[in-house]
Amino acid sequence: MVRNIRVKLKYKLDNSYDIVIGENLDKVIFNDLKRFAHSKYVIVTDDVTRKLLGNKLLAALKKNKISSDLVSFTAGEKNKNIATVTKICRELLRKGTDRKSCVIALGGGVVGDIAGFVASVFMRGVEFVQIPTTLLAMVDSSIGGKVGVDLDSGKNILGMFAQPKKVYVDINFLKTLPTSELENGLAEIIKHGIIADKRLFEYIEKNLDKIFMRKKDALMRIIVDSVKIKKTIVEKDEKESLLRMKLNFGHTTGHAIEALSNYKIKHGKGVALGMLIESRIANKLGMLNSFELLRINLLVRRAGLDIHDDVFKAVNKKNLNKLVLLMHHDKKAFKGDIRFILPLAIGKVTIKSSLKDNLIKESVLDVLPAW
Ligand code: GLY
Repeated sequence: MVRNIRVKLKYKLDNSYDIVIGENLDKVIFNDLKRFAHSKYVIVTDDVTRKLLGNKLLAALKKNKISSDLVSFTAGEKNKNIATVTKICRELLRKGTDRKSCVIALGGGVVGDIAGFVASVFMRGVEFVQIPTTLLAMVDSSIGGKVGVDLDSGKNILGMFAQPKKVYVDINFLKTLPTSELENGLAEIIKHGIIADKRLFEYIEKNLDKIFMRKKDALMRIIVDSVKIKKTIVEKDEKESLLRMKLNFGHTTGHAIEALSNYKIKHGKGVALGMLIESRIANKLGMLNSFELLRINLLVRRAGLDIHDDVFKAVNKKNLNKLVLLMHHDKKAFKGDIRFILPLAIGKVTIKSSLKDNLIKESVLDVLPAW
């Protein structure tokens, strides 16, 4: 005899949330946290951000009579793994965190990914807010709900979509951000221009000096435009069935380069190189004209994302096959076939599969000629 018992779970969910962008957001944050009324707020951050900002935020929360605590882990992409997640969860338990508590992800992309992942698995899920402190986290990783950790064999292989309750982008943090980190974030902003907004790309071309001087109006403009592009895509395709893949322009190659370098090459630089290589592929296929390719090359290099020795140390002719193999493990791959996001023009991309490995290798060699 067979019995079929149906579990009906039709959801009507509203997971909408606000991204507040501005300066000196402390008061806004404290008022919100009081209003949200969680049993406890736990800042999850790395050891570097803890010293720079975490301890101060914790003290300010306590001063504002908000029940709070802090857990930190050793900074760096190489610690973005399940062992770090387990350690943080044990610590949360030790500190009396419960299901009504809220995690505050304070830091860059690695922190946001780990803290968001911790929040979504701890006691089967607690709420979390994002306070990104790097440009890259402000315009990309803190928005859209992708959280997760790496496996040895690939980036973000363990993870889920878990949207934050709110995101606070305080551009004050950018005043003291190292230039290399500003460049890292610029890679994702240039990416947004190439995939969806020609005017943003042109703005960066014309105002790069203002951005590097950290002028408020320039920073606000590129952050607000980027956030708008990303949120529009996420609203239409939260779980990345197709459209959201466009946000992965430069990432198929970039993630493989990062992995090959044992994560010594930072994400932004990996993505920048990936954009150069993937644009070259598009040019070779006759999809992107040589003038637009040149503009992409120039802007990426002017943004400080050019090819330094660290790239050649990490990837060379001998591991070209390995690089392509890593690309085949990309999460966008379908039945082993890599799906590339390729530009048709600045401001417009398309998804293309069934590319020959040789074309990919030739394009890599074109971009990294010293190989
Ligand atoms: N960083 C790509 C995405 O959020 O989909």
